[in-house]
Amino acid sequence: MRKSPSIIHPLDIQRPLNIRNLFPAKQPVELELGSGDGSFITHAARTRPQHNFIAVERLLGRLRKIEKIAERENLSNLRGMRIEIGYLLQFLVPQSSIHTIHVYFPDPWPKNKHERNRLFRPHFTRWVARILQPDGHILIRTDDPGYFSQVTTIFTQDHEFDPIPTPDSLKSFRTEFEIQWNAMGIPTNYAAYRRIPANHGKNGTRYRSHASAEVPGTRYPV
Ligand SMILES: C[S@@+](CC[C@H](N)C(=O)[O-])C[C@H]1O[C@@H](n2cnc3c(N)ncnc32)[C@H](O)[C@@H]1O
Repeated sequence: MRKSPSIIHPLDIQRPLNIRNLFPAKQPVELELGSGDGSFITHAARTRPQHNFIAVERLLGRLRKIEKIAERENLSNLRGMRIEIGYLLQFLVPQSSIHTIHVYFPDPWPKNKHERNRLFRPHFTRWVARILQPDGHILIRTDDPGYFSQVTTIFTQDHEFDPIPTPDSLKSFRTEFEIQWNAMGIPTNYAAYRRIPANHGKNGTRYRSHASAEVPGTRYPV
């Protein structure tokens, strides 16, 4: 019997992703950046078949674990990508194509001299604003209070994002790293933001719209 193709998607690093062709069902796409062993993304794909999910992870061994779970459980709404997050966001993910982004326990790089290795730096919100759909969400967790404060600062300074509460339905699921930190008495810090839809006035000026029929923070899960 022919084995089904791997869920680990082969990337052409010179061409934007064709997200619509990645999955059998055309439905909203969520990204997890730095999926680790995939505890969150496999749970999400299993429990929310009405959305598609992409696990982004640079370590092949970790992606292979996700692949095994996806094959065993026949998760047709899950794909994995082995790539550096910054490159994927800047160059390969099409504009306004992503419904929700999850970033759970990004490596904190606590020493000042390693600061440039952190994912959350001022330009990160620009990458996210480009790929999120209007009203799209980003949900973040970290154990590191210093990094958390950096995350909230850069999103507060970006006019295209509004803070929203993290839904309890998401908080109730803890990731592999989260369970380890919490067991050591280290609490989780949560942050979540909504991309404010940008509108264009008659004279061509771009302005932010806060008018939305939706109550912020109630959109996930749909
Ligand atoms: C601390 S782990 C957290 C894993 C998972 N999110 C969890 O909460 O259990 C961070 C993961 O992000 C991956 N990672 C960190 N920086 C990355 C980057 N720039 N590109 C791709 N993967 C990255 C690491 O390999 C690691 O698996």
